[in-house]
Amino acid sequence: MKRLGILLSGRGSNFEAIADQVASGSLKAAIAVVISNRSEARGLAVARERGLKAVSIPSKGLDREVYDRLVIEELNRSAVDLVCLAGFMRLLSASFVRAFPQRVLNIHPSLLPAFPGLDAQKQALEHGVKITGCTVHFVDEYLDAGPIILQAAVPLKDGDTVESLSARILQEEHRIYSEAIRMVLSDSFRIEGRRVMVEPQHR
Ligand code: GAR
Repeated sequence: MKRLGILLSGRGSNFEAIADQVASGSLKAAIAVVISNRSEARGLAVARERGLKAVSIPSKGLDREVYDRLVIEELNRSAVDLVCLAGFMRLLSASFVRAFPQRVLNIHPSLLPAFPGLDAQKQALEHGVKITGCTVHFVDEYLDAGPIILQAAVPLKDGDTVESLSARILQEEHRIYSEAIRMVLSDSFRIEGRRVMVEPQHR
């Protein structure tokens, strides 16, 4: 069974969606550890309630390299095969990315490369786009930038607020994150340049 390490900073609804898929058996993996840089993160409490290993590693006052080293050590202690960022609001160092080559995924609430960074839904609304969505991608050392695995489109409605739009995007996030994890764990993809391609037998 492949082992997942989840990194989160807050609410943890993407983590919960992954945990539900694992619990129902539709995602054949185990959640080895949930790590947060914020000890008060709701996602960490939810992980504990579910009986999962939940570890708080506060980042305050630590250099990026030092902090990332602590997280790498915990992920290795937990024998993690794939790292899933689920609302983890920190940029990872190049040495973190090198420690898990093609083994770190992130979910972002826009159709990248549009609207990277914070408040992606607000950025989309203010820009006036008619379609936004969400993206699961491999993580490199740049912000919201690595090769794209899956995307889902979400049309905007005239009356949308940041909250209503975020809620519709979140539904799609919960759906595509597990799908992308399934694909990566089954090794049924190859990467050419920036393009992630699914092997024909798995389409
Ligand atoms: C999600 O919308 C996720 O896409 C976003 O934070 C939220 C976390 O929600 N991530 C980013 O913006 C990363 N740049 P959750 O804690 O309920 O999963």
